[in-house]
Amino acid sequence: MATYDVIIIGGGPGGYVCAIRCAQLGLKTACVEGRGALGGTCLNVGCIPSKALLHATHQLHEAEHNFAKMGLKGKAPSVDWKQMLAFKDEVIESNTKGIEFLFKKNKVDWLQGWGTIPEAGKVKVGDEVHEAKNIIIATGSAPASLPGVEVDEKTVVTSTGALELAKTPKKMVIIGAGVIGLELGSVYSRLGAEVTVIEFLDFITPGMDGEVQKSFQRILKKQGMEFIMGAAVQKTEIARGKAKVTYKLRKDDSEHEIDADTVLVATGRKPYTEGLGLEALGVEMTPRGQVKIGADWQTNVKGVYAIGDVVPGPMLAHKAEDEGMAVAEQIAGKHGHVNYGVIPGVIYTSPEVANVGKTEEQLKEEGRAYKVGKFPFMGNGRAKATFSTEGFVKILADKDTDRILGAHIIGPAAGELIHEICVAMEFGAAAEDLALTCHAHPTYSEAVREAALACGDGPIHV
Ligand code: NAI
Repeated sequence: MATYDVIIIGGGPGGYVCAIRCAQLGLKTACVEGRGALGGTCLNVGCIPSKALLHATHQLHEAEHNFAKMGLKGKAPSVDWKQMLAFKDEVIESNTKGIEFLFKKNKVDWLQGWGTIPEAGKVKVGDEVHEAKNIIIATGSAPASLPGVEVDEKTVVTSTGALELAKTPKKMVIIGAGVIGLELGSVYSRLGAEVTVIEFLDFITPGMDGEVQKSFQRILKKQGMEFIMGAAVQKTEIARGKAKVTYKLRKDDSEHEIDADTVLVATGRKPYTEGLGLEALGVEMTPRGQVKIGADWQTNVKGVYAIGDVVPGPMLAHKAEDEGMAVAEQIAGKHGHVNYGVIPGVIYTSPEVANVGKTEEQLKEEGRAYKVGKFPFMGNGRAKATFSTEGFVKILADKDTDRILGAHIIGPAAGELIHEICVAMEFGAAAEDLALTCHAHPTYSEAVREAALACGDGPIHV
């Protein structure tokens, strides 16, 4: 039995980042992970592998649609699906092995196995019980199930199965027009699948700025994705390796069916706390099954903390990482802090979609006086040279003070561009501060500056 200052349960972005920071701050630290590789959902079956497939299929799209226009003639590459999956697996391995290296470098012990908390101050992994002054629950989330829909991870799959399909489907039905559905839908659409997305609501990507939602859906439709909106999936049936999906339209309750080779269920994720022994420990939970925490990420049980997807807030790797660092600092007697008002969100489709801060809808609801500065990528010189003129940058600023309240980008490298606005917001900047900052030409980032100019006297290039 070993004694630690901190034991973290879960080796995903929340857990492993927390472990490294704890060790850097001089705390004797262990991280429990039973998956066989560090990195959690994100590195093994989520963010990282999906980005590898998005990158590969984006290259294919460029070869098929844009190479000839640039004078690059010849046949577009054919798809070797097994090789593409092998490429994805190599990307996963180099990332997960990287975390193993960082653990060794920082002297974090990896306790391999699934952890439980038999009592405060103790973590059991296999037959071994370890002592810890502080325990951090960072066990992440798992795909939420849908009544009537049985997942076999072959024909009806979650995001996990969708990254390992035996072959690429001809017809794919995606349940849920959220982040997972649209990213993986893009992958298979580019690989030639007929993709139909069934969404319960009348708009895609709930929570995003309304104008971006509309523009994004229009772009995806143009790329070939079909949408059935306002439809609740009732059930799926699998027969001879194919699936039949039954859904009801909300407007008239009419029932319809659609066939598919593959069905992806992407209707959200739920906190993963099974088997930790939290009930016996008396840890309070929210009505939505999340671990309830205080301002210092501590649960009602002293010395037991929780971070990441198991606690309220957006289920995002970088939000978990920030909480991991902050809680490590709290435990080390410092002042860990997370600014929940400035957490960017990115969808890695093409074009990318990124957002931070408030949406226009939220500002209206709050009754806040605001102004909108918008600039289309059509007016950006660099975008014209790279077939990426679709989309825009939209900055929302306080009407009186000009302080940036939110930003929404759909366009090339949106996921990178959003961060200059995040930094500006962290500094409490006004739109004018961005507008007065020299931006290199020609870069996509000039579109951000132009949107900031549009909050004032107006942009130049429209
Ligand atoms: P989501 O919450 O983003 O979207 C789920 C969608 O399914 C919603 O639009 C919802 O209205 C719809 N839906 C729910 N029940 C339905 C039904 N019965 N029939 C039809 N539609 C239904 O969830 P998603 O895409 O599964 O992602 C899960 C989590 O993972 C999210 O919190 C997301 O932020 C995170 N994630 C983030 C990524 C990123 O940052 N790029 C990538 C992938 C996931």
